[in-house]
Amino acid sequence: MITNNAVSAIMEPDPSVENIPSLEEVTQWANGLFQAGNPAAGVATQIKEGQSGPTLVPEPMGFFPEQLKSAPSEVGPAGSCPDNGKGGEYYFLPKTPKKNSGDPPPPPSNESLGVQALRKDFPILSQKINGKPLIWFDNAATTQKPQAVIDSLNGFYSEYNSNVHRATHTMAKKATTAFENAREKVQRFLGATSLEEIVFLRGTTEAINLVAQAYGRMNIHAGDEILISQMEHHSNIVPWQMLRDEKRAVIKVIPINDRGEISLEKYKRLFTLRTRMVAISHVSNVLGTINPVAEMIQIAHAHRACVLVDGAQSVPHFPVHVKSLDADFYAFSGHKIYGPTGIGVLYGKKALLETMPPWQGGGSMIKQVTFDKTLYNNIPYKFEAGTPNVADAIGLGTAIDYLQKIGLGPIENHERHLTGYAMESLLKIPGLCVIGTALNKISVISFIMRNLSPDQAAQHLEKEGIAVRTGHHCAQPALERFGLTDTLRVSLGLYNTKEEVDTLCSVLHQLARQSQA
Ligand code: ALA
Repeated sequence: MITNNAVSAIMEPDPSVENIPSLEEVTQWANGLFQAGNPAAGVATQIKEGQSGPTLVPEPMGFFPEQLKSAPSEVGPAGSCPDNGKGGEYYFLPKTPKKNSGDPPPPPSNESLGVQALRKDFPILSQKINGKPLIWFDNAATTQKPQAVIDSLNGFYSEYNSNVHRATHTMAKKATTAFENAREKVQRFLGATSLEEIVFLRGTTEAINLVAQAYGRMNIHAGDEILISQMEHHSNIVPWQMLRDEKRAVIKVIPINDRGEISLEKYKRLFTLRTRMVAISHVSNVLGTINPVAEMIQIAHAHRACVLVDGAQSVPHFPVHVKSLDADFYAFSGHKIYGPTGIGVLYGKKALLETMPPWQGGGSMIKQVTFDKTLYNNIPYKFEAGTPNVADAIGLGTAIDYLQKIGLGPIENHERHLTGYAMESLLKIPGLCVIGTALNKISVISFIMRNLSPDQAAQHLEKEGIAVRTGHHCAQPALERFGLTDTLRVSLGLYNTKEEVDTLCSVLHQLARQSQA
């Protein structure tokens, strides 16, 4: 169970670090947890050597797959993995109305948003896969594009394709205006104070790398500490490891409980005088947990630490206001919010961006170049070296228009209900274990099934036209926390329906019956 790579202590003991339990204790704990649906347990900790710096990580607690495979009778009836039986506690699940209480039924999911009408905006959704209507449940990987976004890309290339910020001809002016209008749309979308705070980049990954390299190299030194959570996507781990190794800094990992939630108390205890940076996802791409980022930012600021929020999986699902959150940096990708691939955004507070050195050099990011020296351009252009992705930035602006016309509030309402409905339905499937049962979650549902690998299940779903993702979801440490290497992930978007969830569950019910026969 314990992967005992623990090395001799290379850091002062930290008050947040709990005692590492014995193997016997952990086994007892895991077995008890599995059978009893025990709520969040403590998290042991080990210290691992990075290439040239330490990382303080919570100990993985592996127990799910063994239990599912070897002791099916102990798994019990439908969905009785840890926490699975506690559906009624989730805020998003409709409370079972008392008989004759007169409580209104939970609001219908599809109708509240007018999903059937919206679906017509997405031409790709009307196709059949393997003779079955496509059900796109891989929205956390990428979302489909409405016709308006497709038209916007076509319009750019067929009517006014031009470079920006350079020439004075008609098409250059038109392209520059459209490009800068897109920046303004992003500014309003995020609630940023000024246009200068919006940097166009390739996506969330590039945005995080920029912050790690430009802000991190300047502000993080040997022995300084970076906090990241156990549920991060690799793109919010690896850039910090690269910085750690260069600077001999220290990465400390914020543990998650068995539901896949961060405890603010445990988070608070990780701070020391050396904490410089917190990098945290707003919504987990593998567990669906919505992290309490506003509180986390407040706590970090009280310790004078800077906060980067990975918003790749949040901005498609609910309104985000970076000023209210007081985030220092906030990153997201266009293709996850129904816009094009290859375009993303870094929001950064003006005062921070201004002090940061550029990351890449080239055209556009300069005011003047001689062979002796270069004067850099103002923000945000200082961070936009080379010809930007003009067409896709404009397409992103169109996607934002599209979302704002529907309203992020109604989208959130629809997706919260649909997530609750899907959780409730999936939990009824015998031998299915949901990984990530946070009280506050949206859109992403990961699970494993008894006697059936995620890939096998996904192949069956594919035959029915249902697209899901399997694997580690670029979040290997998050899965390691649950003793897993892969799961099957269903991720929902604004165009998904209860009927699609029903189809998914009916195929899974059938698979569960067959695999247990
Ligand atoms: N980050 C994307 C996902 O979660 C690719 O699938």
